[in-house]
Amino acid sequence: MLVHSFPTTYIFIVILSLTCGSLSSVPIRTEQSNENFVQNQDEFIPTNEWQIVKEGQAIPSGLHVRLNLQTGLREAKLLDKDEKQKESTNDLVPVSNDDTQQQERISRENLERAFANLDLSKDDVTTDEKHEEEVKTKYRPYDELKKDFEQMNMKVQTDHELLTDLLKQLNATDNNENRKTILTDLEFYLHQYDNAILFSDMHGLELLLQLLNSTNVNNDVRHLTCLTLGAAFQGNPKVQLKALNIGFVPHLLRLLNTEVDDNIRFRLMFTLSTLLRNFPQAQKSFLEHGGIETIVTLIDQTGSNNKIQLRAIELMNDLIVEKDQETNEKRNVYDSIDIRDRLMKYDWCTKVSHRLTSNDMHNFDQIERLLTAMISFTDVCRTNFLSLLPTLEKLNDVYIKANPNEVSTFTDLLTNLRTQLKQTSSNDL
Ligand SMILES: *[C@@H]1O[C@H](CO)[C@@H](O)[C@H](O)[C@H]1NC(C)=O
Ligand SMILES: *[C@@H]1O[C@H](CO)[C@@H](O)[C@H](O)[C@H]1NC(C)=O
Repeated sequence: MLVHSFPTTYIFIVILSLTCGSLSSVPIRTEQSNENFVQNQDEFIPTNEWQIVKEGQAIPSGLHVRLNLQTGLREAKLLDKDEKQKESTNDLVPVSNDDTQQQERISRENLERAFANLDLSKDDVTTDEKHEEEVKTKYRPYDELKKDFEQMNMKVQTDHELLTDLLKQLNATDNNENRKTILTDLEFYLHQYDNAILFSDMHGLELLLQLLNSTNVNNDVRHLTCLTLGAAFQGNPKVQLKALNIGFVPHLLRLLNTEVDDNIRFRLMFTLSTLLRNFPQAQKSFLEHGGIETIVTLIDQTGSNNKIQLRAIELMNDLIVEKDQETNEKRNVYDSIDIRDRLMKYDWCTKVSHRLTSNDMHNFDQIERLLTAMISFTDVCRTNFLSLLPTLEKLNDVYIKANPNEVSTFTDLLTNLRTQLKQTSSNDL
């Protein structure tokens, strides 16, 4: 469980010192100049009151602009009548409680307040992917704020310095609480593409692997290590390649085979999937090192743990769909990746059917995910899945009864699956 707001190590090690006399005289760019930025089309209509400047929103020049350190947002208003408009640029004034002109030292407390709206502690994640998405959305305002500080000529540690420090601290400590703090910070920085590459160049992946493999770390640390690795791998081919070369695939499989804690296994599945997805070379390694057998064993063993079974079935489906959807030029890379065929040898259809019939009929979220993962198997599992038709009809009734008057993807999915099963069977006659 994460019990931790904004990256505390950052606050701790960042040296924010004002190098200019008065902040209110530092001109800043108030329009976003980032090319990737979507321009906000809403017109900003300045008044005498402070108003929040939305992301990408252009504002007229000559306004009084401030950075609200309590919210991390920028605000603007018309200059007061007695304030002479000296130049046409907008000034940025960091603001905390009062609006004095005196130089304000950006303190650790101010920063913490500025980041109060970046609370990372709400860790009631239903899936690790969702959690990653949340961390990502939190990085954006942080990045903005950091740019603003740089604009004010305040010394902010570069990400390189920061990562070096975090890595050094992680390598040096054997205290699990410290590790948790450092890992939470690392996860925050590493989902950022360049940072993850930097980190892997500094042999950070090796250190995380050691940590995952170590017997003197607790489950919280291993959980966070999985998330941190996932953040670094996700959508980052360079880091994925590095991990492949270090032998991460067999390591993760071995850990999955030996781990006894279900929560950690669940997290390891997440890490594995971020390494495999959109990276056929790693999928090849997965097959070569008994990945299919590991998945099948996981499904057979964990009779009581739906979460892991479902995650495993989804991962197999994701990889199959990825191959199926590959365009012609890249198709041959996937030639030897025959996950569907291999699963058939382990009676996959029966396992998936069993999963559906033994699932709580009212857990619509789980069932929906399972049904989605079944679609890509309708052809190969037709004989088996046809026996599910009564169950599918029952599910439809149960759902409609529980959610009357609702148009839903759930019933659409059921209809789709039933139609596909019936079509293939009649085509086959
Ligand atoms: C961790 O510390 C050891 C011993 O000081 C050093 O040899 C190793 O390179 C360090 N690892 C990383 C990733 O910094
Ligand atoms: C992980 O631990 C096992 C057993 O202690 C050991 O055999 C293996 O070499 C370790 N792997 C890494 C990458 O440290």
